[in-house]
Amino acid sequence: MLIRRAADIRPSEITSETLYWNRREWIAAAGAIGVAAMSPTSLSALGAARQQGPVARGTPYGLQPNDKPTPWEDVTNYNNFYEFGTGKDDPAQNAQEFTTRPWTVKVDGFVTKPADYQLEDFLKPHKLEDRIYRHRCVEAWSMVIPWRGFSLSEMLKRAEPTSQAKFVEFTTLLDPRRMPGQRSSVLDWPYIEGLRLDEAMHPLTLMVNGVYGRDLPNQNGAPLRLHVPWKYGFKSIKSIVRIRLVEKEPVNTWKVSQSSEYGFYANVNPEVDHPRWSQATERRIGEFLKRKTLMFNGYADQVASMYTGMDLRKNY
Ligand code: MTE
Repeated sequence: MLIRRAADIRPSEITSETLYWNRREWIAAAGAIGVAAMSPTSLSALGAARQQGPVARGTPYGLQPNDKPTPWEDVTNYNNFYEFGTGKDDPAQNAQEFTTRPWTVKVDGFVTKPADYQLEDFLKPHKLEDRIYRHRCVEAWSMVIPWRGFSLSEMLKRAEPTSQAKFVEFTTLLDPRRMPGQRSSVLDWPYIEGLRLDEAMHPLTLMVNGVYGRDLPNQNGAPLRLHVPWKYGFKSIKSIVRIRLVEKEPVNTWKVSQSSEYGFYANVNPEVDHPRWSQATERRIGEFLKRKTLMFNGYADQVASMYTGMDLRKNY
């Protein structure tokens, strides 16, 4: 698969490893933008970096020493979003005209405060954060992405789940007029995903509305998507219109499509192969050599305890 790259993208656009690894420097660089008394050299350096395109920013979560943010060009041109086509570059091409305003989000099911929100009201109570996460697709490629969003747990707490709520089900918009891929039967529409309530409440589970400090481009799941960094990418549902608290395990789209290949849990696990390929290694987009895949995509310290006692070969 050919990855489109902007001819004029320069390495200097991508924040250097030293810069993003050193939080103090991050803060210093961010702070420096607002300070009037800067040396002409540093001012022009920052100005140049800003003019060239978005610079990755945010707090690194679970990054490995050799991780660096995947360039914007790849993050926004190498996508899986079957509502806009099955090719990796289809979403960037076919989602350009997709309108995401007005947008409503329904929160319902076993909650004491169900509501239909306009997107702006849904986002309003939350302080948006920039967080740099690892992203591993079930197809054995990976990226490092600076998302902008807030912990889903904050939103769920406001809705007040009742004791019957055991899982959270997420639904993507169903509108074949606006999402041309839904006119084909490649998947069972609308796209549905689910998490166990404790997974949804985990502080790493991010409700995302931006990337690289900008509002989400349509191809990345505008205006609202999920990112669950220790799970294969298909759990990170895009263009969400409904969040429903339920009692039983939701029937997720990929499990309906191929239950022998895609389970409900979908935790990244180098020891459990996909029936058609190994999950032991992955190709970082933009790199040539393969990397070893890490258990829970490198987030084992934070999340493994949620699966104590579970057979992860059976619950793939
Ligand atoms: N959400 C919807 N609604 N439709 C999709 O086809 N693809 C999933 C996930 N969310 C998908 C989706 C898959 S397989 C992956 S790997 C990620 O989105 C890709 O997210 P990205 O394009 O931002 O990297």
